[in-house]
Amino acid sequence: MRKIQVDSLVPGMRLAKQVLGTNSEVYLNAGVILTSRYIRKLRELGFACVYVYDAFLEDVQVPEVQDVVHEETRRSAIGQLRKLLIDTEASRDKAIAPPKELTQTVYEMVDQIVENPSRMINLSDIRAQDEYLYHHSVNVCVLALTAGAEIGLTRRQLFELGVGALLHDVGKMRIPTQILNKPGRLTKEEFEIIKQHPIWAKHLLRDNPTGASIAAMHHERINGEGYPYGLKLGEISTYAQITGLADVFDALTADRCYRKAHPPHEALELLMATGDYWFEFNIVNSFLAIVAAYPIGTLVELNSREIGVVVETPKGFPTLPTVRVFVTAEEGWLPVPYDLSTLENCRFVVRVLEDEELAFIKKRFF
Ligand SMILES: [Fe+2]
Repeated sequence: MRKIQVDSLVPGMRLAKQVLGTNSEVYLNAGVILTSRYIRKLRELGFACVYVYDAFLEDVQVPEVQDVVHEETRRSAIGQLRKLLIDTEASRDKAIAPPKELTQTVYEMVDQIVENPSRMINLSDIRAQDEYLYHHSVNVCVLALTAGAEIGLTRRQLFELGVGALLHDVGKMRIPTQILNKPGRLTKEEFEIIKQHPIWAKHLLRDNPTGASIAAMHHERINGEGYPYGLKLGEISTYAQITGLADVFDALTADRCYRKAHPPHEALELLMATGDYWFEFNIVNSFLAIVAAYPIGTLVELNSREIGVVVETPKGFPTLPTVRVFVTAEEGWLPVPYDLSTLENCRFVVRVLEDEELAFIKKRFF
C-alpha cells in the first residue's frame, strides 16, 4: 500500500484505504478499482492523495501507517469541531465553550499520545479542500500535543494546549470566505483583514483564558515579525509557540488553493530555519524529534545508489529512516529486498523518487 498523488492516479489502480468525508461518509471503499470517472471525482472533491495497492511493491510489503491518534478519534474531533464552528458562525458573538464531547476527545488524544511515546508522526493526512479548516485544526492539535509531550508537559498542560490548538483559528469564521480561499496573492487591505483573526479568536474564546491566549498569539514570532501585536521573545507563551509552529508545518505540507504541498522533508528543513528566529530552539527541536521527514511508504534513493521504500523512522532521527531496499546499483531489482538502517550504516537519503519513476525503473530491469 502506498500514498499517491491524485494527479498520478491512472485507471485500473486499486484503492487500499477507503476515502472518507468529514462526517465519516464513505466516498469510495477500499478495494475499488479506480476508473477515470472516480479519479476525476476525487480531484473535484479536492483530495490531493489517496492510498493504493501498488503491484510493483506488493512483494515489498510496506507496513501500514499508524497515526499517533486513532483514526476514529481524529474523525470524531473533526466532526465535533465542524459542528461547533458552524454553530459559532450562526450565533455570531456568543462566547465559544467547547462541548463536553469535544473536551473528552482532546483527553483521548492526550492519552493516546502519552501512552505511545516512541511513535513518530508519519504524514498520512488525506483531506478534501473544502474541509480544510477542520482538518487543519485537528492536525495542528495532534502535532502540538505530540511536540508538547516531547517537551515534557503534564497531561493537564497537554489538555489545555490541545483545546487551544484545536480552536486556534476560530477567528477565521469572521473572515469572508472569498479572502480566506483566494487563490491569488492577497492585497495589503485583504491581509490586514486576515491579521484580525487572532483578535476575533481571543474575543470568541473569552471564557477560556488559556485557549484565548493561544489563539491570540499563534501568529506572533519571537523576532517581532508576527501579528497582530508584534510581540517578542519572552512575551509569547510556550503553548502559543508550539501551536504556531504546528500551524506553519501543517500549512506547508497541505495542498492549498494557491500552491502545492511541500513534502515533509522540505517542510522540516524550512522549520529548522525558524529556530531562534521565529520560535525558540527547544520548540523547533521538539518537532524535529517527532515528525518523520520521509513518511512510511516514501520511495527514496540513498547515497549508496540503493533504492527502496521507507518502512520506519527511529524517534529523534527524523531524516535517517530504515529503508527496505529493492534496487541496488550492482544487482538491479532484487528478488528479496532487505532492510537497511541509514542511521546505523552511515547512509543518507539523497532524493525522493516521484511516482512515475518507479514504473520507469521497473521497465529498466524487466
Ligand atoms: Fe491562524
